[in-house]
Amino acid sequence: MVVKKARIVIIGAGMAGLTAANKLHSVAAAKDLFEVCVVEGGNRIGGRINTTEFGGDIIEMGATWIHGIGGSPIHKIAQQIHALESDKPWEWMDGKGNEATTIAEGGFVLNPSFLHPIKKLFNNLMDHAQGKMSTTSKGDCGNLGVGSFLRRGLHAYCGSSKEEEEFNRFGKWNKKLLDEAIFAMHENVLRTDSSAADLFTLDYGAESEYQMFPGEEITIAKGYMSIIEHLASLLPPGLVQLGRRVTRIEWQPERHEPMNMENGTCSRPVMLHFCDGSTMSADHVIVTVSLGVLKAAIHGDDSGMLTFHPRLPPFKAEAISRLGFGVVNKLFMQLSPRHEKRDEHSKGFPFLHMVFHSPHSELRHKKIPWWMRRTASLCPIYNNSSVILGWFSGEEGLALESLKDEEIIEGVSDTISCFLSHSPEFCNGNVDSEKYSHEYEVKVSKVLKSQWGTDPLFLGSYSYVAVRSCGDDLDTMAEPLPKSGNSNHSCVSPPLQILFAGEATHRTYYSTTHGAYFSGLREANRLLQHYSLC
Ligand SMILES: Cc1cc2nc3c(=O)[nH]c(=O)nc-3n(C[C@H](O)[C@H](O)[C@H](O)COP(=O)(O)OP(=O)(O)OC[C@H]3O[C@@H](n4cnc5c(N)ncnc54)[C@H](O)[C@@H]3O)c2cc1C
Ligand SMILES: *[C@@H]1O[C@H](CO)[C@@H](O)[C@H](O)[C@H]1NC(C)=O
Ligand SMILES: *[C@@H]1O[C@H](CO)[C@@H](O)[C@H](O)[C@H]1NC(C)=O
Ligand SMILES: *[C@@H]1O[C@H](CO)[C@@H](O)[C@H](O)[C@H]1NC(C)=O
Ligand SMILES: *[C@@H]1O[C@H](CO)[C@@H](O)[C@H](O)[C@H]1NC(C)=O
Ligand SMILES: *[C@@H]1O[C@H](CO)[C@@H](O)[C@H](O)[C@H]1NC(C)=O
Repeated sequence: MVVKKARIVIIGAGMAGLTAANKLHSVAAAKDLFEVCVVEGGNRIGGRINTTEFGGDIIEMGATWIHGIGGSPIHKIAQQIHALESDKPWEWMDGKGNEATTIAEGGFVLNPSFLHPIKKLFNNLMDHAQGKMSTTSKGDCGNLGVGSFLRRGLHAYCGSSKEEEEFNRFGKWNKKLLDEAIFAMHENVLRTDSSAADLFTLDYGAESEYQMFPGEEITIAKGYMSIIEHLASLLPPGLVQLGRRVTRIEWQPERHEPMNMENGTCSRPVMLHFCDGSTMSADHVIVTVSLGVLKAAIHGDDSGMLTFHPRLPPFKAEAISRLGFGVVNKLFMQLSPRHEKRDEHSKGFPFLHMVFHSPHSELRHKKIPWWMRRTASLCPIYNNSSVILGWFSGEEGLALESLKDEEIIEGVSDTISCFLSHSPEFCNGNVDSEKYSHEYEVKVSKVLKSQWGTDPLFLGSYSYVAVRSCGDDLDTMAEPLPKSGNSNHSCVSPPLQILFAGEATHRTYYSTTHGAYFSGLREANRLLQHYSLC
């Protein structure tokens, strides 16, 4: 009887796919037991990891931080391959701890006595949500959003605060407006950290399940891509195939095809169709595409996007649709001094934290575009860098993707002027701004933005647990199909036809590169176990 080698196809050459490929290849190559290949729809590996250069600096378009170095497998690889040191400057080379200057719209520098109480309030509320201060029951699929929890906390605080003080120094601001706006700035950071653009949809109960590694958070000197390139370098050439976008996955939840007696083999249960019309059969497929791509797949309209035939079963489709997947984009801006003669004592562009009037307030400055108003900070990517970084999420992040570079440059420049010109009148548009040139005056010469939301290979940035979803849904994401294989080695509905890996399949480390890494390992091990190889 001819025993055919099992064929395992991994869809996606991001962190999860390459990690699974490495694990399987290391065992398969030694024992020659199965074929492994990775099919990647894009023309590059790395997925949501994309290191590039801008203004002479190494920057990250996607994943940026190692979220805690203690126990992180990513940190371990980075150390092994000496990726944590470099001669060239890189994004956040001097860490997160730079001293920020917080300025309220109109150019009012806020000192710590205004900022600290609100920061403390916000952090206490988040500590509470993350279960550091209580023993809340974990894993409830509840209805409470982090947004409503935070706002309740803010209103309780405002209700208890003292009489309004005079704010003649702060133009249109008063104490209550300022407190709320500082609070909103912290919320804006959470919007990008979580990718939940609307915090009212971020599940409160799940916050306590999310885990971070201990230790400092750092960036990778030689770039996040060095990790990806290392993983790929361990694979033989040709194992990863680029430009191979899968459009259709045919699988067999209930097959009753008898074993072929002549050659003693069964046909492989899964058939992949590619965008160029070619096909490939497989015994096992590990799907690592983003939750955004899976959401589009379950609404499958066959318009060239990924679809499953038959459709994914309800338990899987419902978890996919309940979980959240938001858009977060990074915008890099290159500054050039507007005037040749720069003050020798000029401090350069500050680590600017911005406190905006609320987007619909009549007090807002009309020159600042709406899509800038929920960006919490504009910061040089390291001390003295002329490259400034801002984060955008949700609607604002999506809007950024469709704006022309010139429109972005104008909107950013107007915003910077409003905060740094020390001329509140500028923002009202009734003063000639040229009269107010000073040490901070800057010109944005070019910009580079990520476009994760509209890229059909991602359709968003990373996942979060949405209200009415919960940690169980992340476990459901990881369950292979068909759900219960009713046979072992006959051809009746073979088990483990479709396996799921990727950031959105990890219950406690979702949304991260290490979550993706562990998920790839998990699914490779599931197959090795199936073949009794570990
Ligand atoms: C702006 C941004 C900032 C981030 N910051 C951090 C951070 O600081 N720290 C951190 O840990 N994480 C961060 N992340 C998250 C991190 O990048 C991801 O969690 C991780 O890279 C996901 O890896 P993955 O393998 O699960 O998915 P992906 O990297 O998305 O890999 C999936 C692959 O599948 C391919 N694909 C999609 N559809 C098809 C198809 N039909 N056929 C074939 N191939 C297909 C895609 O091209 C992609 O290469 C960030 C992400 C973004 C977008
Ligand atoms: C990766 O970065 C390069 C360089 O900036 C860019 O051209 C490309 O579009 C990016 N790819 C993705 C998927 O973001
Ligand atoms: C950058 O500046 C901060 C203070 O703002 C300082 O603590 C840090 O050491 C500096 N880093 C470098 C590399 O100079
Ligand atoms: C086994 O036989 C079937 C039916 O005759 C055929 O379709 C299939 O290609 C054969 N497989 C191999 C590996 O020869
Ligand atoms: C940044 O610039 C300031 C002033 O120009 C200088 O004193 C400082 O050494 C610079 N820091 C770095 C890390 O280059
Ligand atoms: C697979 O076979 C083993 C024994 O060979 C048996 O114990 C097990 O129940 C079978 N699994 C299924 C799903 O039938």
